Amino acid sequence: MTGQFGNKNKAWSARFSEPVSDLVKRYTASVDFDQRLAEVDIRGSLAHAAMLAATGILSESDLASIQRGFTTIREEIAAGRFEWSLDLEDVHLNIEKRLTELVGDAGKRLHTARSRNDQVATDIRLWLRDATDEILTLLRALQEALLALAEQHADTIMPGFTHLQVAQPVTFGHHLLAYVEMLSRDAGRLADTRRRINRLPLGAAALAGTTFPIDREHVARTLGFDGVCENSLDAVSDRDFAIEFCADASLLMMHLSRFSEELVNWMSPRVGFIDLSDRYCTGSSIMPQKKNPDVPELVRGKTGRVYGHLMALLTLMKGQPLAYNKDNQEDKEPLFDTVDTLVATLRLFADMTTGIQVRAERMRQAAAEGFSTATDLADYLVKRGLPFRDAHELVAQAVREASDAGVDLAGLGRERLKALSPLVGDDVLETLTLEGSVNARNHIGGTAPAQVRAAIARHRARLASA
Ligand code: ARG
Repeated sequence: MTGQFGNKNKAWSARFSEPVSDLVKRYTASVDFDQRLAEVDIRGSLAHAAMLAATGILSESDLASIQRGFTTIREEIAAGRFEWSLDLEDVHLNIEKRLTELVGDAGKRLHTARSRNDQVATDIRLWLRDATDEILTLLRALQEALLALAEQHADTIMPGFTHLQVAQPVTFGHHLLAYVEMLSRDAGRLADTRRRINRLPLGAAALAGTTFPIDREHVARTLGFDGVCENSLDAVSDRDFAIEFCADASLLMMHLSRFSEELVNWMSPRVGFIDLSDRYCTGSSIMPQKKNPDVPELVRGKTGRVYGHLMALLTLMKGQPLAYNKDNQEDKEPLFDTVDTLVATLRLFADMTTGIQVRAERMRQAAAEGFSTATDLADYLVKRGLPFRDAHELVAQAVREASDAGVDLAGLGRERLKALSPLVGDDVLETLTLEGSVNARNHIGGTAPAQVRAAIARHRARLASA
């Protein structure tokens, strides 16, 4: 056989006098992993073919043949009957070859005014746009799960920490809302990245554009792109959007990893603030008493691989001259694995969140230890006219005394506290209560239950309008 795909099945065989070695074939082929681009590759090809027909570059009957061919190919792929061949290197050549088998010359005409360089760039953008939308949906579900839990625990008091030491009481709802804030920034970043993903490279052809009278806007509209990449060299070689996506993903995983670390800590029997549903934990093969928080630990662990993919893509691009180089083929696996990791992690996390059982008594008990309301006593004195630094000093003395006596500040008793300063009144013990402490922080961003409820309402309104 001669002609396209004839000799050794390759699209460029006429130029070559010997086939590539087996090792080279294996080394350079991407079909094992890029076949997951098949659906977007077909979508892109159909849009390209429709444009070629609309501009008179391709006949209507060729377009009809191509459309018919792709219907069959889609069925074959869906049924697992499509035969992927390493000889055909990648997803694009495999599909084009099969199309030509099915519809003859019309299939051979599909590649007019196109190159695999602008084709693959288009495929990845389409694929990543869909993936981004899925991740945004999952992110929203996780935020909703966190909001529901925060609402249940708007009044639940726990210790807030700095340096992992009890600092001031906070509400558990407030603590959870800190993660909702992080996740809303993540969603914002992804939505912003999506705008840069959603540009059409097709029409750049190999690197310089094409001699055919194409209509790139037509293709962009068909595929739902916001516009076209405006420089052909940049269009085929740009992978910024993939790097940006991985950077967004890294931040998101970092947030989930921090939360995971807290869950692991809260679940340890020494702390005992929460329990996770059994379906999120495993036992030990040797120690019968164990219930290990495997899922949050793995989230923490998988964060590393996502950071790794970001580094891989940054490094992939740093040495490439314009325009397309085969290096770019290495963009796919890191991107695919980043998406897979994110999708699986977000799914599990939302479900895990709904199964968090809170041990409010343990939290409260821990908040009552460690002089967590010492700042409230200092604030009390300041409100009665003492300069803050002096109040700080006075309360530090009281803490030391209480600590020596093995009691908390309230445990010193009203009379002893009154002896600290003539500014201390009969109402001093109320300022030392946990409820008094959290309720007093009643401004936007504060931990008061009323503020937690207001913040939940704001987040819900924002999610509803997004
Ligand atoms: N499989 C290739 C990739 O992923 C497709 C583009 C190949 N282009 C080329 N000129 N060899 O990047």
